[in-house]
This record gives sequence, structure tokens and C-alpha cells, in this order.
Amino acid sequence: MESTVEAVLKELIHLPRGRQAAYLESALEALPKPESKEEWNTRFGAGTLFEAWTASSVASAIYQSNAKIIQRHLKDRKDWRILEIGGGDGRLWSRVFDKDSQGQLHVIDPAPEVHEQMQRIVPDGVSLHSQVALAQDAEFLDVDLVVCSLTLHHVPGADAAECEDRGIEGPGKLFILKKMKEAIRKRCGLAILNEADIYCDIGLAQSDEILIDRLIDSYVRRCGLSLLHDIEGPTGSDDMKARWRAIARHWCLEQVAMGHMSLADRDVYELDVPRWLGLIARAGFDIESHQFTDDYGLFHQYLLN
Ligand SMILES: C[S@@+](CC[C@H](N)C(=O)[O-])C[C@H]1O[C@@H](n2cnc3c(N)ncnc32)[C@H](O)[C@@H]1O
Repeated sequence: MESTVEAVLKELIHLPRGRQAAYLESALEALPKPESKEEWNTRFGAGTLFEAWTASSVASAIYQSNAKIIQRHLKDRKDWRILEIGGGDGRLWSRVFDKDSQGQLHVIDPAPEVHEQMQRIVPDGVSLHSQVALAQDAEFLDVDLVVCSLTLHHVPGADAAECEDRGIEGPGKLFILKKMKEAIRKRCGLAILNEADIYCDIGLAQSDEILIDRLIDSYVRRCGLSLLHDIEGPTGSDDMKARWRAIARHWCLEQVAMGHMSLADRDVYELDVPRWLGLIARAGFDIESHQFTDDYGLFHQYLLN
């Protein structure tokens, strides 16, 4: 019988944790070779895997919850300013804005395609300001709202000291969190942070057994299961389901191999909830609320001021 992504996910999720990594390696070899593969976070337009990702149940739940909070927060504010760090395909903003929306949206993202995509989404009354990187010495402008959703996990290390200790370049997550706090201070703004609840940061070395287990926990046992339910569920066209299947393979099952890359190449440096809470407090934020946004215990939303 031909091996399928769904069959691998089902088998893997039912195995004892200690046997899942070995099973995953052999199961990936047995899957038929894909015709093409889209790299994570490189393409964002119509027909891409990223577009299908933003339509998945766990991602949609984030946008739905964030959009409600943002609309409430901006309701009585005139000439509002928003800063988003890490834009993706702008799906959140298509839920927040309508044709009468007026204000400024500042987006920081290294991917040029993100900025092109934002141009297509943002209505005429919202002026779009694009930036590719946050310079270390740059001051953030004062804004009413900062959104940083599923982006900080691309930044290695909790802080500069941890990065230095592990031989990694960069200021760590704390630097960006502090900038976010600075940006909302004057306008009594709100910061929204969305991240997963899994520790796989640079404190865990390349190929560490715990690291591989945590990656499987996040990408397979939680995200993979949610995609399996999407694929087998009643909503979604055949084309959408084919793309969810490709995501489950390339961005869930195959992502676990990232644990065998060098620290610098890993590209995913997630924290669990207690560590996020500690870092958020160190950045000077008060925590208004925090909650899971999905039923899989995958993504967490922090409202900060
Ligand atoms: C998983 S996507 C999330 C996009 C969007 N915020 C969402 O929730 O759908 C991560 C985004 O962060 C961007 N990104 C990666 N590293 C970044 C960095 N150091 N600063 C800002 N954006 C970054 C990627 O280009 C991508 O658009």
C-alpha cells in the first residue's frame, strides 16, 4: 500500500514518544518524492503554501482573535498608527480593515514579497510604510498597536548574553520585545504577541534528543494533528487540501530535521509559555491577558501594555 502523509501522521501520533523520531525518519524515506517543494516563509501570494497555511484552522484562529481585539482597541482612536513585525501574507489585515479604514500601517519584514502582498491588501485610506529590518540603534515610532505574530521565533536566543554564550550573532528576542514596549509607551498602546508553547531555542544543542522531541511535539503532535483534521474535515476545496497535505509534509514532518542543523541554521527558536512570560516581564510589559488561541495547545496570544 502506498504511504501517505495522513497515514504517517496517524501512525506517528499513536506511537510512544520515544519511538516517534526513528519512525519519522524511515517514514519520510518511504513517502513518494514530491514534485516541487516550497521553502518556508519565502512565497506569500495567491496559490502558495503560505496562503493555505493562513487558511488552516490553527492560523485562522489567531487572525480571528487578533482582529477582534484590534478593532476594539482602535475603535475610538483617530489617525491611528500600527506597527507589524513580520507580515506574512497580510491575512490579519484583510480581516481588520474595511474600505473606510484610515491610518498608518508600518511593516518590518525582510522578505520583499511580503511588502508587495501588503500593497494589494491595504485599502486606500491606510498609508503603508515598509521596512526590511529593524536596525539595532533605531528608535521605534510611537504607535497605538504593535503586532508580532509568529515572527519572534525566527530570532535566536532569549537575549544578547545567551547568544554570545552559544556563539550566535544577534541581540536575541528581548531586544525586539523592549523596542515593542518603547513603541507603545507614549500612546498608551497595546502589543499583541502570538507564539507557540514549545521550548526549542539555542539552549538545546544540535541533535539533542530533547530538542528533537520538542520539535515533534510542536510540528507533528500539535500542528500536524490540526492539519490532519483540516485535511479530513468538511471544509476546504481539493486544491486547499492538497496544499495542507504539502504543508503537513514539508513544514511539519520534514521540519523536525531542523533539529540536526547547526544552531545558526535552525531558523526556529521557540520558547514555552513560562519562558515567554519571563522575557515579557524583563522587557517591562504588564500582561493584560494570555490564552491559547486554538484547541491543540499550539499557539498562545499575549496582550501586553
Ligand atoms: C510565520 S510568518 C508570520 C506572518 C504573520 N505575522 C502571520 O501571523 O501570519 C513569519 C514572518 O516573519 C518574517 N520574518 C522572519 N524573520 C524576521 C525578522 N527578524 N524581523 C521581521 N520579520 C521577520 C518572515 O518573512 C515572515 O513574513
